[in-house]
Amino acid sequence: MIDLSVDFGFIKLKNPVLAASGTFGYGIEFSPFIDLNKLGGFVVKGLYYSPRPGNPPQRLVETPSGLINAIGLQGIGVKKFAEDILPQLRKYQTAIIVNVCGETEEEYAKVVDFLNKEDGISLYEINISCPNVKEGGCCPAQNPESTYSVVHLVKEVSARPVITKLSPNVTDIVEIALSAQEAGSDAVSLVNTFLAMAIDVEERRPKLANILGGLSGPAIKPLALRMVYQVVKHLNIPVIGIGGIMTGQDALEFLIAGAKAVQVGTANFVDPEATVKIIQDIQRHCQFNNITKIEDIIGTLNE
Ligand SMILES: Cc1cc2nc3c(=O)[nH]c(=O)nc-3n(C[C@H](O)[C@H](O)[C@H](O)COP(=O)(O)O)c2cc1C
Repeated sequence: MIDLSVDFGFIKLKNPVLAASGTFGYGIEFSPFIDLNKLGGFVVKGLYYSPRPGNPPQRLVETPSGLINAIGLQGIGVKKFAEDILPQLRKYQTAIIVNVCGETEEEYAKVVDFLNKEDGISLYEINISCPNVKEGGCCPAQNPESTYSVVHLVKEVSARPVITKLSPNVTDIVEIALSAQEAGSDAVSLVNTFLAMAIDVEERRPKLANILGGLSGPAIKPLALRMVYQVVKHLNIPVIGIGGIMTGQDALEFLIAGAKAVQVGTANFVDPEATVKIIQDIQRHCQFNNITKIEDIIGTLNE
């Protein structure tokens, strides 16, 4: 029997595979396709305090090996989430992570303060890195001071451990990750999407109504892996790897680089069973290589 569990210190996950925010709805949408109990956990769509319509269409563009999105953080707001969604999620034996958004630092704190009262949430992931919101607080993760400030404030009010989700749209990701750690973040997750655009040549117009969007999918995997590798070397809190993970091999690359867990995003659009297949792939790899504990693989890169 292979032990796939990973211990973050403040939470133990049954395996290192999580579904990424914004690609997995509020989790329940995937329950007809997979047994959610099989996942290490899932991160729900980003939540602001109030409902938001997001950006106008067109909001998605397919590219070679990737997807550009400019959804603009459409969401139902915390009250509806607590009333309608959370009661349905409580029956699952897996980590439920809420992706927290805010147009201001105070809004992040307000969302967390509201959700503290609700049972059934394991962790918060603060999304300080969305590239698709034109107005308002986008994006604290591009600056070490604003990263420190928002993480510090959220940590002050939070009754639960906090993961800070970082942006790849920076010169020095290590500097930002250190800032999050210094402010008390319990873990970091990286990366969110890369700022991108696509043009319709016939119309000579941007394909996205928002003009710019965020690139995800296999195209970003080597870039994300490089950033995870760099951040792991400098931090002493757990790092969650995200970016273009489609297969167990992809996930294993991030684990070997030192990520304690991974999140799977765009792959869920290609195959709603992707997360479960990735867990099976990892299990097969361990079996084949006589590895009894997945934690024995983490951070074992031979340099
Ligand atoms: C359509 C879409 C919506 C997303 N919404 C969110 C979100 O609400 N909050 C967030 O932190 N990240 C969001 N993301 C970013 C993903 O969680 C993930 O960080 C990114 O897509 C890279 O992983 P991937 O290449 O596996 O998709 C979204 C991504 C996509 C494609």
